[in-house]
Amino acid sequence: MTRTCDALVIGSGLAALTYALEASRLGRRVVVVTKRVATEGSTNYAQGGIAAVLNTAKDSFEQHVEDTLTAGAGLCRRPVVEMVVRAAPAVIERLASVGVKFDMTANGHGGGETPPVEYDLGREGGHSSRRVVHAGDITGREIMRGLLEAVRTTPSILLLENHTAVDLLSTRKVEGMQAAPHHTQHTDDRCLGAYVLNEEAGRVETILANVTLVATGGASKVYLYTSNPDVASGDGIAMAWRLGAEVANMEFIQFHPTVLFHPQAKSFLISEALRGEGGLLQRQDGSSFMQNYHPLRELAPRDIVARAIDTELKRTGDDYVLLNMTHLDADFLHRRFPNIHAKCLSFGVDLTRQPIPVVPAAHYVCGGVRTDLDGESTIPGLFVAGEAACTGMHGANRLASNSLLEAAVFGHRAAHASERYQQGPTPAFANVPEWNPGNAVPSDELVVITQSWDEIRRFMWNYVGIVRSNRRLRRAARRIETLKAEIREFYWNATVTRDLVELRNLCTVAELIVKSAMARKESRGLHYTIDFPTAASNEAPADTILKREDLV
Ligand code: FAD
Ligand code: SIN
Repeated sequence: MTRTCDALVIGSGLAALTYALEASRLGRRVVVVTKRVATEGSTNYAQGGIAAVLNTAKDSFEQHVEDTLTAGAGLCRRPVVEMVVRAAPAVIERLASVGVKFDMTANGHGGGETPPVEYDLGREGGHSSRRVVHAGDITGREIMRGLLEAVRTTPSILLLENHTAVDLLSTRKVEGMQAAPHHTQHTDDRCLGAYVLNEEAGRVETILANVTLVATGGASKVYLYTSNPDVASGDGIAMAWRLGAEVANMEFIQFHPTVLFHPQAKSFLISEALRGEGGLLQRQDGSSFMQNYHPLRELAPRDIVARAIDTELKRTGDDYVLLNMTHLDADFLHRRFPNIHAKCLSFGVDLTRQPIPVVPAAHYVCGGVRTDLDGESTIPGLFVAGEAACTGMHGANRLASNSLLEAAVFGHRAAHASERYQQGPTPAFANVPEWNPGNAVPSDELVVITQSWDEIRRFMWNYVGIVRSNRRLRRAARRIETLKAEIREFYWNATVTRDLVELRNLCTVAELIVKSAMARKESRGLHYTIDFPTAASNEAPADTILKREDLV
């Protein structure tokens, strides 16, 4: 079965839905495909909020830019940071206009007049001011509620749940599928859409589109412990890579310092906003340690806090450290963090009376598919936004609450930039063949998938985690080579399923992370290696850019 549309959007998080709504407003017919139910993605779980300078009396765009550049450790692209930071107030306005309700505060100023109602601004690590717009501690859930209501009532957007993109299509790829071996390709490349697995129908369908947006989120499921939902398997990064797009800075994986330590909690995030409101990190004996690592203590940039906890855990042999909130007013904690409070209580921890046991976990991929200022990848007609993209906003380390901001800004910009491809159906659509299942049969050995998945996540955690070394990276690279061959063989002989698609992508992403980490001969931002423990004294530090021919 083949569908044709103006724009294919892969994913249904903040970047995807922002794009879909804007493209439809510009008169486009949009198809949105998403792997599970539409709410399932990192956006839905975001807690802290969206960074935006709204109080110019106490804050400034320049300060937000400087904080972002400082966290990014020399690798942010300043024009991108400036553009995104300045676009933040419009993002908040657009979200509010589709019905997203952020927390407000009546800001008393004396004199008996009615106090003005303003956004309540939270504080997080690395920010020099309070500038995080939020909806309690369930900001992402509220954003998804508002956006999905708007999408579901827009007739020109078709939302297809339980549809997993398997592979992207381009003129070159189609030519390659049809050409005789060793045929030289000449066509100018252009993205044409994707093959998509319709799980209910049990078949792979073709969706042809003048423009494709990959907004598939992150890849932190490549690690054993992660704050991310299961869908975060790096599909978009792997698909774009296979199509020939450049990928950048994959070594910069952000580990969030604090997820709940509990066997049944599935790495539930304990927001940085708790430290923003005065939470203290302590060893199990109650002693503080952040004073030994950074003058900003608990509010130091995330990489420093995560590494400090990792060091303490390795030194003491403990399984977790504590985040202590008990010195703060209990009513305030109930009000400000109702969801986190309830979740902790469900695991027997009353955060108003007991410290919370916490550990670091993989949280965010700063690298991704390399894009320009409009979100376009190195393949024409293929746009990438949100966590799957590397726009230059985050550099070597992302500042808290800058991710939702970047996703919304680039989703919006990409929709406008896509207009240059909207001149009627692309003639090359006629050459795209239907999905060819070959001789694949349903597999009776699904244990191969679970075994390989588990193996990847475990060696990535142990060898490519918070602290790296040449030797550990080489070990990981060797295991990837073996797994790659096994997965390739399994993939082409078994009927395609979502699990299999995810495993193949996860292995590709693991390889991209390891190769990028091996290429960086220094420690910078989130990439820390004991073999090169300091940053290279380079005036102009460079991105790690991988092209397909580098990895065969
Ligand atoms: P996502 O919201 O992750 O959506 C990706 C979508 O793609 C999903 O719908 C998924 O199902 C779909 N998908 C994936 N692969 C395929 C495929 N092959 N086919 C079809 N669909 C596919 N950032 C902040 O700025 N502030 C915060 O407060 C904050 N808190 C966070 C809390 C948690 C627990 C987590 C995990 C992250 C948090 N982040 C936060 C990071 C931020 O939420 C994410 O980076 C951001 O939401 C990513 O948005 P996105 O649109 O790129 O992707
Ligand atoms: C958090 O609430 O700590 C997450 C914020 C982020 O990842 O930006």
